[in-house]
Amino acid sequence: MPKTKTQYVCRQCNRITPRYFGKCPQCGAFNSMVEEIVEEPAKAAARAPIGGVRSTPKTLNQVEGDSDERWHLPIHEFARVLGGGIVPGSLVLVGGDPGIGKSTLLLQMAMLMAESAGPVLYVSGEESERQIKMRAMRLAEESKIEQLSDKLLLLTETNLDVILEHVHALKPRLLIIDSIQTVYLNGLNSTAGSVSQVRESAARLQELAKTSGVAVFLIGHVTKEGTIAGPRVLEHIVDTVLQLEGDRYQSYRLLRAAKNRFGATSEVGVFEMSGGGMAEVTNPSEFFLAERMVNVPGSAIAVTMEGTRPILVEVQGLTSTSNFGNPRRTPNGADLYRLMMITAVLTRRVGLRLMDQDIFVNVVGGLKVDEPAADLAIAASVASSVQDRPVLADCALIGEIGLSGELRSVGQLALRLREARQLGFRRIVIPRTFRKQSEAWPEGLEIIQARNVREALEAVLAR
Ligand code: TYD
Ligand code: MG
Repeated sequence: MPKTKTQYVCRQCNRITPRYFGKCPQCGAFNSMVEEIVEEPAKAAARAPIGGVRSTPKTLNQVEGDSDERWHLPIHEFARVLGGGIVPGSLVLVGGDPGIGKSTLLLQMAMLMAESAGPVLYVSGEESERQIKMRAMRLAEESKIEQLSDKLLLLTETNLDVILEHVHALKPRLLIIDSIQTVYLNGLNSTAGSVSQVRESAARLQELAKTSGVAVFLIGHVTKEGTIAGPRVLEHIVDTVLQLEGDRYQSYRLLRAAKNRFGATSEVGVFEMSGGGMAEVTNPSEFFLAERMVNVPGSAIAVTMEGTRPILVEVQGLTSTSNFGNPRRTPNGADLYRLMMITAVLTRRVGLRLMDQDIFVNVVGGLKVDEPAADLAIAASVASSVQDRPVLADCALIGEIGLSGELRSVGQLALRLREARQLGFRRIVIPRTFRKQSEAWPEGLEIIQARNVREALEAVLAR
């Protein structure tokens, strides 16, 4: 095969050079050059677009309007994060740390979709067919796997040109590439997983998705810097970026949308890694409160929103006398500056003695709360610990704290109240600024309206 010509392009200033430079000769940026295939114009024009469809301009009414078309995905938590199902012709990137469960979740999806929507091609460059089969055996019963036989196809291949040939022959409705870092295009000199390979491969798959209507899911590894394969190269190409997060030592997993052309980015899906794959957690609050201890100092319940769904989480606070000049503030699952601000408010506005105390705050379950609505619960957990007074067991707290110690209103109060009530909480502290709209507030929940942190703490800390 004749060798394809390649060139190097600076991603900062678009300077083109025939060979690689660590530092761009034009703009001086470091590590900004990426390899690209040079195609002769005549050849580029002659190359039949993937799927054999040539683009033509259309008027808006010529474009088919059923843009809402989505394939039903029976994993509800997953479907919600996608915006309500799988969009035909979309390119979705699923990122996450190694071992978090990406292959498991996508194989589960592949099996379900093969059943309901038609042929699915699962391409793996990381694992052997046997390994995938073994995983499938954990996820479904033998008889189920047999039923799927001709609808779910496995392919272990890393050459993208070969993969695309198979796609044309098999015409699957869903294509899964595990992972984008393992596939390569022949024309490029750089190795699989390099920025050039990942970018060009993703671009080819995007073309495939857009011209043929196949929905393509890419699995991507998160690099140490927290980006997916180089400086956000992929995020721009794909339609949707999903992140699978979680603690290796905890069984639950969160699926978040970081970008979504077909839905909201605030949605979160909650799963639990079980012996039989990723199980949906339909009531996350119950899950996160399962091991809660009541009537011990240093524990408070916050009602935060994860997307459109309220989740109750336990915030633990611990104060202990510091041995060093500068006491430490250590939040786990909360923001450091938020904790420092809350500590300052507790010191100045409530009069707690915290300047010689190390403060640790932990959001139980490994969840991250970055919403200011959790301020009051954080404050209560710290105050409860330093004063050794437990927070009343049936009480949850909602409110953002301002610098003068005042409580500020938060969004979606009605949803939060309903969730707290459903989980058996009897009392809830909210900012005074809310006017009572009796129909929105659930029955059987005593609502304590506090103007500031001091009032709120008076109401919830046991004497
Ligand atoms: P995997 O999907 O291979 O992770 P990734 O593709 O993100 O690297 O999942 C890896 C972990 O999940 C592995 O430690 C085994 C565990 N696991 C279960 O606990 N239950 C299961 O049913 C399966 C299939 C895997
Ligand atoms: Mg994997």
